[in-house]
Amino acid sequence: MFKLLIYHILLTICIVVAVTSASFIAKTPQNSFNQPFHPTTKLSGSYAQSINGPGHVANIELNTNISSINPDSFEYVQNIQCGQDGIITLTLSNEAALHDILNWPSKVIILISDKWKCSGQSTTQFYLIGNQSIDKIKKQVNFTSEPCEVLKWIESYSFDLAWDQSIKPIKKQNKNLYLRDLDQQTKIDLDILFDSKTGSSSKPNFKFSIGQANISESLVCKNCFTKGSATIGLHVSGTLFNITNATISISGNLSINVDVSVSASVTIQKFSTPDIQIVEIPLTALNVPGLFNLGPALILVANAKVASSLTGILNTGGEISFNNFQFQASLIDKKTNVTGFDKPQIKSHKLSTDIKASVGISGTLKPQLALDLSVLNGLVQFKTGIQIESTLGITASIGNGTGCKKNNQLNLKSTLDGDLGFFVQSFKKPIFTFPSLDLGSLCL
Ligand SMILES: *[C@@H]1O[C@H](CO)[C@@H](O)[C@H](O)[C@H]1NC(C)=O
Ligand SMILES: *[C@@H]1O[C@H](CO)[C@@H](O)[C@H](O)[C@H]1NC(C)=O
Ligand SMILES: *[C@@H]1O[C@H](CO)[C@@H](O)[C@H](O)[C@H]1NC(C)=O
Ligand SMILES: *[C@@H]1O[C@H](CO)[C@@H](O)[C@H](O)[C@H]1NC(C)=O
Ligand SMILES: *[C@@H]1O[C@H](CO)[C@@H](O)[C@H](O)[C@H]1NC(C)=O
Ligand SMILES: *[C@@H]1O[C@H](CO)[C@@H](O)[C@H](O)[C@H]1NC(C)=O
Ligand SMILES: *[C@@H]1O[C@H](CO)[C@@H](O)[C@H](O)[C@H]1NC(C)=O
Ligand SMILES: *[C@@H]1O[C@H](CO)[C@@H](O)[C@H](O)[C@H]1NC(C)=O
Ligand SMILES: *[C@@H]1O[C@H](CO)[C@@H](O)[C@H](O)[C@H]1NC(C)=O
Repeated sequence: MFKLLIYHILLTICIVVAVTSASFIAKTPQNSFNQPFHPTTKLSGSYAQSINGPGHVANIELNTNISSINPDSFEYVQNIQCGQDGIITLTLSNEAALHDILNWPSKVIILISDKWKCSGQSTTQFYLIGNQSIDKIKKQVNFTSEPCEVLKWIESYSFDLAWDQSIKPIKKQNKNLYLRDLDQQTKIDLDILFDSKTGSSSKPNFKFSIGQANISESLVCKNCFTKGSATIGLHVSGTLFNITNATISISGNLSINVDVSVSASVTIQKFSTPDIQIVEIPLTALNVPGLFNLGPALILVANAKVASSLTGILNTGGEISFNNFQFQASLIDKKTNVTGFDKPQIKSHKLSTDIKASVGISGTLKPQLALDLSVLNGLVQFKTGIQIESTLGITASIGNGTGCKKNNQLNLKSTLDGDLGFFVQSFKKPIFTFPSLDLGSLCL
């Protein structure tokens, strides 16, 4: 069974996966041209997902116990070259800054971001530099360098990630279209099995179970998908041995469409399937190579249950949407704060059946947004996220109190129930149960 499951997972993953890797761009603060070129004990860096449109921005600050500097914080640093002999050469366009270097201590930590491709490396590099020699004509300074294990020199750190809507895109012919495109590129895409061309599932009629002859054919997710987008906020701070704060927030919009279809031409016995992973989609990582990596993934798990034997055809479903939801959690004490989940919008789809006996059927979809966070190559490491468990339940019952005129009439009821859960590492916590939503009922 286990092997079968894995096989199925791999099989489905191959169909959908779309991964891209992109990283943040180091930002140089404007108006830093006249700032003195002095190392301090605060080594900070600013990074943006996009320089010409809304996107996530990241700020990192390391308190070092010797002097340190990030040349990207100064507009006049024009070039950084790392020679094979360990010589690091900075080219500066500000003469005063060149003079400042004479007063530097003998050992300074330098952060060289990936954009300089130092020694051919495409990740952030740290070195201890010293023995400066200045060439006034070329406006260059050479340092000798030693390797630097930056974690040895850090007393405390803080890392922040936030969504910045204020960055305006460069004007293009069709401004609105451009804005939307940029938004879509920089937000976390919550589409699972959604085909934007047809507006419905890219994998219609996927089975809730595998290998169980009649059942797998008879109970399918006819049109199941999620769509939406989200933005992420993060704050992580601490000392080398103690994470004092790790707070994550996720804001966004999400719709879950669940349309279940039963078509059992022969009687199937009651059953319940284990959780099956339908798909896992790794998304574009939010990262600054060597400083932090936040790898999001979307996972869709499904299961189904039939409470008594049944024969017949049944179609039901609906859509549940959460607009402008906000989720915040402390990864340390696991306290959560959510808004926007209490009043979901629902759309009920057509209910139809020819089932003649009392039965209970449910199909559950669990879309999950998982975030894998690593700061400074594992100094801080968390796997966290949220999961919505949406269960479409269908009960058909005969008798009193069903609301049908005749006592022997079959009453079919379709409901959508949901739970919002949060997880960090192996800790799981249900945080919200949506009110049960009535998708409609029928008297047969
Ligand atoms: C400065 O030069 C001395 C002597 O060559 C060397 O031992 C030392 O490692 C250098 N300092 C740095 C930070 O590279
Ligand atoms: C800096 O180093 C380069 C070679 O890496 C050398 O050509 C240049 O003369 C050096 N400049 C100074 C001021 O030492
Ligand atoms: C601070 O600097 C010393 C060397 O001067 C080093 O041994 C120590 O590990 C450093 N780090 C911290 C966090 O104090
Ligand atoms: C870690 O940080 C927390 C919160 O600041 C503090 O209460 C705790 O004493 C610290 N633990 C250690 C081992 O420093
Ligand atoms: C942790 O960080 C969050 C987000 O920046 C902040 O709202 C909260 O007050 C911080 N908590 C503590 C205990 O510092
Ligand atoms: C959610 O939708 C609202 C309005 O449709 C929009 O203003 C907001 O930016 C969206 N949020 C995200 C994270 O996409
Ligand atoms: C599956 O269908 C066959 C006939 O097609 C039947 O003999 C068998 O009992 C069914 N199995 C289950 C588990 O319903
Ligand atoms: C929960 O979040 C809302 C908005 O996101 C905020 O106004 C409120 O203060 C937060 N509550 C707590 C206890 O943090
Ligand atoms: C239906 O309910 C009424 C009162 O609640 C009871 O008198 C009657 O016997 C019930 N009929 C059946 C078929 O259970």
